[in-house]
Amino acid sequence: MKIVVKKGSLADAPKEYVRIALTEKPKGMKRLVKEGGVETLELGVGKASEMNLRRFIVLCRAIVSAAKANKSPKIALQFDRMPELFKNLKTATPEHISQLAAENFEMANFEFNLFKTKPKDGWHSVEEILLYGKSSPSIEKALLKGQEIGRAVNACRTLANTPGGDITPTTLAKAAKEAVKGLPVKVTVLGKKDMEKLGMGALLGVAKGSTEAPTFTILEYKGGEGAPIVLAGKGVTFDSGGLNLKPSSSIYEMHMDMSGAASVIHAVALAARLKLKQSVVGLVPSAENMPGNNAYRPGDILKSLSGKTIEVLDTDAEGRLILADALTYAKRFKPALVIDVATLTGAAISALGLHASALLTRDDALAEEISRAGEASGDYVWRLPLWDEYEDRVKGEFADIKNVPGGSTSRYGGAIDGGMFLWQFAKELACPWAHLDIAPRMTAAPGEELAKGAAGAPVRLLVRFIEQWTR
Ligand code: BES
Ligand code: MN
Ligand code: ZN
Repeated sequence: MKIVVKKGSLADAPKEYVRIALTEKPKGMKRLVKEGGVETLELGVGKASEMNLRRFIVLCRAIVSAAKANKSPKIALQFDRMPELFKNLKTATPEHISQLAAENFEMANFEFNLFKTKPKDGWHSVEEILLYGKSSPSIEKALLKGQEIGRAVNACRTLANTPGGDITPTTLAKAAKEAVKGLPVKVTVLGKKDMEKLGMGALLGVAKGSTEAPTFTILEYKGGEGAPIVLAGKGVTFDSGGLNLKPSSSIYEMHMDMSGAASVIHAVALAARLKLKQSVVGLVPSAENMPGNNAYRPGDILKSLSGKTIEVLDTDAEGRLILADALTYAKRFKPALVIDVATLTGAAISALGLHASALLTRDDALAEEISRAGEASGDYVWRLPLWDEYEDRVKGEFADIKNVPGGSTSRYGGAIDGGMFLWQFAKELACPWAHLDIAPRMTAAPGEELAKGAAGAPVRLLVRFIEQWTR
């Protein structure tokens, strides 16, 4: 998509551009007006006084979706009318607003049609947006950056959406290499033999039921001299639940159980593309969780890379197992900070619905910083506690720890149990750590003007956070 800033007013737009007119009519109102060969698409934005950054994000997407629905590849917009119309947005800089607009134009223009036959008249995506208003080098830069971010989010969505039959641990590792092609990012892929040598018993345990071999991919971007930020992403390429097989109603979208991995891969690629000044390492432990005849069993005890033993009470709580080994592996990079990203629990969805990922950390300052990056980027997060009170729930009976509490209280606070399990490994790191349970944001929610399927969270949050990290 091309985004061009032009001096002057919307009235000057050439005829082939459909003009987008934002009005204070009710949100969602849409009307096409044709006059003298000029098409104007009126969009209601609700009361200007009620506009805020969150609504602005959805509005930018609504503009592109309306244009797509109208089959208008070229649109024009009075961009400098936006701050005037949305006085409440004035707390954000014009650069921030421009970046957000570009990000969300790109995100709304995306559809996962890799596996669809192209219609005779092509896909109805937007090819060009003319923004009428004052330009400046910093605004141009913000728009380009926003587009770059939007494209990375979309690449993440493509990877996450790709069916489980096509994305295996091996092809996920290939996708990581592909994502950073031409960028200064070093990629290393550990295979099963390497894992055995290292003693990654948790990751190996999860992988046992599948004929697909596990992989562990390491992406290294050196943007500065300081200690790196390590990101670890859950890469379960299909989560059948294993022997604790999921019911039909829960198994369908489980090819997206590598969404954390996809976001980490594309966040590292994006950090390199934007030449961020921080060093970032991406860790992608990957396995397929299947109920094969060699599958790990409920009751099995795994020896993790950390040396801690883990009792498997439920083979469907596999994400925390593969991440445990990744958190231990993170140590060797002497990180400044570790964040793991995972579609870890349905319980996070029960707790938060579809609009925020769960954030779990013992570090209040870090929680604050991640929350702020979430708010500013549109990848919203909400914190859940990781208090000592919860820790007994993951203490093991016959091993050091267990992967779920088991018993009658097992279904309470599942997102916290996931975080508390990971904390048992993260506490060995000599740096702050946070866990993002992105299960609520695995797929786009109704009303957010994004195509069905993967939402691409939290790529936007991660780059914004990395950029602002100064500790
Ligand atoms: N990948 C799932 C969690 C999930 C569910 C993500 C729905 C996105 C949408 C995870 O591996 C899982 O199965 N979690 C279990 C944990 C339970 C066994 C303690 C769950 O949520 O039921
Ligand atoms: Mn599972
Ligand atoms: Zn899973």
